[in-house]
Amino acid sequence: SLDNRVKLVEVGPRDGLQNEKKAIPLATKIELIERLARTGLSTIEAGSFVSPKWVPQMNNSSEILEHILQRDNITSPVPLTFSFLAPNLKGLQTASAILAQHPTAFTSSPPSPETNPSRNKASSSTKPALEIAIFASATESFSQRNLNCSIASSLSTFSAVIAAAKATHNLRVRAYISVVLGCPFEGAHVNPHRVASIATELLEMGADEIALGDTTGMGTAPRTKELLDCLASAGIRSEDIAMHFHDTYGQALVNTAVALEHGIRTFDSSVGGLGGCPYSPGATGNVATENMVYFLESLGMDTGVDLDAVADIGQWITEEVLGKGNDSCVGRAVLGA
Ligand code: HMG
Ligand code: MG
Repeated sequence: SLDNRVKLVEVGPRDGLQNEKKAIPLATKIELIERLARTGLSTIEAGSFVSPKWVPQMNNSSEILEHILQRDNITSPVPLTFSFLAPNLKGLQTASAILAQHPTAFTSSPPSPETNPSRNKASSSTKPALEIAIFASATESFSQRNLNCSIASSLSTFSAVIAAAKATHNLRVRAYISVVLGCPFEGAHVNPHRVASIATELLEMGADEIALGDTTGMGTAPRTKELLDCLASAGIRSEDIAMHFHDTYGQALVNTAVALEHGIRTFDSSVGGLGGCPYSPGATGNVATENMVYFLESLGMDTGVDLDAVADIGQWITEEVLGKGNDSCVGRAVLGA
């Protein structure tokens, strides 16, 4: 039933790779995205239009966006949405200029699950939807480290970015709030009321979704509940919320269960458990997509994702490409690796 559908946002190609020291070839990133697109994942965060001085690994995001917009490059069993980070107008303008060259190659609104007839059918030839993501912070220290500005200043930038994204290509806008369940500089007790007020501001500016980032993975089940209760009291609807758990302390699936009880149905994950934030010392990857699919399907939820196919990709990208261990216990178990 529709109630059992969960949307997974695959962030491996962006959050998963942004922290890698060694430059990963463009062809490898594109292969990763193309393989993920064939697994039934509907939403893929594919790159980031940030300063290359700050995050050099993401500096070929323009080429990735160009590739996605070339007809027939990407095949998928479901309609796809691709998301790109843009922290300021400069990042948005870089993306917009590329989109302007391919005005008929994408749609701005992602297909809604209710009206999506091709789910679970063999192949989809619909144009991809494009989305941009802005990223605020729940603490001043993290805002300074990640964006080099205060929360208030970042919000006024984001207001302009949202307005421009809507005005130019009517793009859907996802708005992250980082460090909502713990800050590397201010500790575990981040004020949930502060998160609620930032989320309210972002929604009022026109953001389409709030992605709550447990950047450090310090979040626990009780504190996840406290945060989501606080957001609900502030009038923020569960359908406007996505959860973005890093799994540093192994609490991501427990916290996911809490979020499911609060009616949240959108979750971020990263193939092979790739990732980490360059401005969050010691933080490890996002919860692995393989672990999420296994867990959600065990609850009778429908992710639409082929677990075996994702496990193969996780093994390939972690062990073969990056030469490090596969961080998904489910992936390793499924593969007998
Ligand atoms: P700044 O240094 O204060 O900015 O950085 P600036 O405006 O003074 O610009 C400095 C230089 O960067 C200039 O170049 C600009 O042109 C250039 P120069 O004149 O020196 O040659 N520049 C850009 N270049 C390309 N694209 C742009 C751009 N903007 C400026 N968009 C800035 C401010 C926001 C740019 C910087 O702090 C930045 O790029 N930060 C991004 C940090 C980042 O990417 N962090 C990781 C992503 S967030 C994350 O991982 C968390 C998340 O996963 C959720 C969670 O886990 O919680 C989303
Ligand atoms: Mg993250």
